[in-house]
Amino acid sequence: MQDIPAVMIIFGGSGDLAHRKLYPALFNLYEQGLLHAHFAVIATARRPWSHAFLQEQVADAIHEVNPEVDEEHLTAFASHFYYQSHDVTKVDHYVTLKNLAAKLDQKYHAQGNHVFYMAMAPRFFGTIATHINDQRLTSTGFNRIVVEKPFGRSLETAEELNRQITACFEESQIFRIDHYLGKEMIQNILPLRFANPLMRQAWNHEQIANIQVTLAERLGVEARGGYYETAGALRDMVQNHIFQIVTLLAMPEPTDPSANAVHQAKQTLLASLQLPTPEQVSQHFIRGQYAASDRTFAYRNEPNVAPDSTTETYVAGQIKFTAGPLAEVPIYFRTGKALKEKMSRVDVVFKPVKSFYGEATANYLTIEFDPKNCLTLSLNGKQIKGPGLRQEQFTYALSDYETSIVPDGYERLLHDVFVNNSVNFTHWAELKRYWEFIDAIESAWQAENATGEPAIAQYPPYHYGPHSSRKIFATTDMKWIYG
Ligand code: BG6
Repeated sequence: MQDIPAVMIIFGGSGDLAHRKLYPALFNLYEQGLLHAHFAVIATARRPWSHAFLQEQVADAIHEVNPEVDEEHLTAFASHFYYQSHDVTKVDHYVTLKNLAAKLDQKYHAQGNHVFYMAMAPRFFGTIATHINDQRLTSTGFNRIVVEKPFGRSLETAEELNRQITACFEESQIFRIDHYLGKEMIQNILPLRFANPLMRQAWNHEQIANIQVTLAERLGVEARGGYYETAGALRDMVQNHIFQIVTLLAMPEPTDPSANAVHQAKQTLLASLQLPTPEQVSQHFIRGQYAASDRTFAYRNEPNVAPDSTTETYVAGQIKFTAGPLAEVPIYFRTGKALKEKMSRVDVVFKPVKSFYGEATANYLTIEFDPKNCLTLSLNGKQIKGPGLRQEQFTYALSDYETSIVPDGYERLLHDVFVNNSVNFTHWAELKRYWEFIDAIESAWQAENATGEPAIAQYPPYHYGPHSSRKIFATTDMKWIYG
C-alpha cells in the first residue's frame, strides 16, 4: 500500500470518538503502510494539552484496544501527532492552525494534502466550515472533509450546513460518514443481492412480501440525554443508519462498483421514495419511550431529559418506494433503546406459495450484523416422522478467525477517505431525501404533540418495545420475525 502524504486536522481531538475510534483506526492504517512517513495529525480541542500529552493519550487509546502492540511502532506513530488548543469560534485560532499545518506539511513532505475531520459536537460544524473557508485553511494538494452525523436536524438545517461546507469544498471532497456503512454484513448486502443467481432471481416485488429491519439496543441513553432530547430515535437512527440499509436493500443494480454508479443507483431509487402523509404517519408509525425498571430510570427521569419530554426512544414504521426492484413492498423498521438485547438484523420475508402440500410457511433470509455476522436462510423440508413439513434454518456465520480480521468500520471508512473512494459515504442528494422523509414524520408528530395528547407509548425496558408496534403491519396476521 502507498504511504499517502497528508496532514489531518481533527476538530474534537480530545473527545471520545477520537480516542475510541479514530486513533486506533489510524494506527492500523499506519501499520499497514497506508499512512506512514508522510502523515501528521493535528488534534484540536479546547483543553490546554501539550503535544506530549496528546501523544500519551494516543498511546493509551491504542493500548486499550491492543495491549500486545509493538511499542516501538506505537512510539513512532504517536510522534506524528500534534496538539493545538482551539476555540472554534475564535478566528485567530484558525490562523495558528493554518501555520502549524503549513509547518507540518513541510516537515513531513505532505504535498499540501489536507483532511479535515469534524468530530466535535455537531452545533460547531457550521462555524468550523465557515472559518476553514474564510481563513483559507485548504491547501495546494487534495482537500477533503469528513463530517460526522448528525448532518443537521431537519432538511432546512442540513441545507444550511451544506451551504457552509460547499462554500469551500466540492461534493466530491465531502465525506459524510455513517459508520454503519463500514460494517461487514452491510457491505455484504450488494454482493449478496447481485452476485448470487438465486438471489438475483428472487429479489423483487413478485417474490418478496416484506422486509423487516431491526436495530435494537440494550443500553438506554446513558450520559447523552442532552443530545438525545434534540434528536430522538427517528433522527438518531432512522435518518441515517436505517435509511442507508434500506437503500442498499431496495436500489436497482448499479452499472459498476464505482462510487458514482452506486450513488446514481441510490438516487434513482430515492426519487421514488413515498413521503408519508399525516394520516399515514398516524397509521404506520409508532413511537415510544422506555419506562423505569427496578434498577434503571425511565427515559423521562434520565439526566438532562425533560420530565414531560415527548422525545421518542423507540420508533417503528414503514418505508415504501414506488419504483425499483421492491416497488410497493413494505419495508418495516424499528429501532429503540433499552430493548431486550443488542440486535441489528434484516429479515427478508418471501411470499408464501401454495403447493400440493397446501400453503407452506414463507421462506425468509436473515442478515445479522450485530452481535454476530451471519446469514440464515429458512427452508421447508419434510418431517422426519409423519406427514407434513417443517421449517429448517441454514446459518452461515463468520468463523472466529474471520471475525477477528474484520476491520473496524472506522478503519475501513478512514481508509476510503485517504484513497478517495466515497462509495460508502452519504451523497448530499441522498441525505436530502432522507431528511424530507424524516421532516414529514416530525411535522405530523409536532402537530400531534400540539394537541397535548401525543400517542407516545411507555414501554417496559428490556423487552421488545411497545406492543402497538404490530399495528404498522398491513394485515393483522403479520408479525415481526424477530422477537
Ligand atoms: C449512533 C447513535 O449513530 O449509533 C447511537 O448516535 C447508537 O445512539 C449507535 O447507540 C449504535 O451504533 P452501533 O454500531 O453500536 O450499532
